[in-house]
Amino acid sequence: MDEEVRYHLEMHWHGKEQVTVLPLMKTLTFNIICSLLFGIERGPRREKLADDLRYMVEGIWSIPVNLPFTRYNRSLKSSARTQKLLKHLIGEKREDLKHGASPRQDLITYLLSIRGDKNEQVISEKEIIHNVKLIMVAGYDTSSALLTFLLRLFANDPAIYAAVLQEQEEIAKNKHGELLTWEDLAKMKYTWKVAMETLRLFPPIFGGFWKAVKDFEYGGYLIPKDWLIFWVTGMTQMDDTIFPEPSKFNPNRFENPASLPPYCFIPFRGGPRICTGYEFARIETLISIHYLVTRFTWKILCSDNTFSRDPMLAPAKGLPVQISPRKLL
Ligand code: HEM
Repeated sequence: MDEEVRYHLEMHWHGKEQVTVLPLMKTLTFNIICSLLFGIERGPRREKLADDLRYMVEGIWSIPVNLPFTRYNRSLKSSARTQKLLKHLIGEKREDLKHGASPRQDLITYLLSIRGDKNEQVISEKEIIHNVKLIMVAGYDTSSALLTFLLRLFANDPAIYAAVLQEQEEIAKNKHGELLTWEDLAKMKYTWKVAMETLRLFPPIFGGFWKAVKDFEYGGYLIPKDWLIFWVTGMTQMDDTIFPEPSKFNPNRFENPASLPPYCFIPFRGGPRICTGYEFARIETLISIHYLVTRFTWKILCSDNTFSRDPMLAPAKGLPVQISPRKLL
């Protein structure tokens, strides 16, 4: 992950005077997933997948009427193309495995390597394709929104920025080009508290539909089996009985996360279906912030400080910033 972040900064930040943060953070998180989880090489195949994935996601929240030139129609076409590409990729990985590739080299190879009692493949090709598509959709728009809102916060709040920078510089000053380690990540306590408070106020996923598996009562209402329920992150995270002065940005609320009542901090949801990529997102965020704050300073170029949801979080104009390199320690 460290190598991916550094590569990204070399390619897209160094030598530039202006960048637009949101699309770049999407590029970064997409590339991290491709390299680390799916073993999809850099180049035309990855780029084609990135385009299709963008259209696929756009269609998830569109009106499901399949007419030409609609978002929905474009999304279905992209989804079919992605499916085809993944089928091809799985074929290649199956061959690699036959010729001695390590099952640990990426998630697809690992899933293909799981064998039952009669040495049969346990997870079908269809299941692998659907899981890969799910992880791709779930894992790149979300983390990129968090990173973008952190960069926006640092530009707008000098005190928080200074405290994060100090924590990260402490780590950077003992490094001479080596990769970050688990010990380094464990030292990024304040940075992660800031990220948690950002996730509380700006949750990338604002809610979702779940289906009642049985009749139940809540708040005096009967919710019948099979009804769809829309859970909303902000309703809980902005509740002043849980988080006093909920509109105030205060990372110290997370001084001791274990003291929070269960199911109250839910940007990753909770329970048995909590986000699978929670730890992945934490590591990705900390590493990216480490290199961004220690290598660059930035100033927002857009006077409009608002943001929208479509349904993903997006700051006005994608957050254009003017950047300057910092002297490497
Ligand atoms: C800041 C980053 C992230 C946030 C805020 C986030 C949030 C969430 C939320 C709220 C859910 C539950 C959705 C629901 O209940 O309907 C979820 C599920 C999921 N997330 Fe994440 N996620 C993030 C990053 C990631 C990453 C990086 C990955 C993969 C590498 C990932 C993979 C998944 C998967 C596979 C599920 C489905 C789990 C299941 O249904 O059992 N997420 N995520």
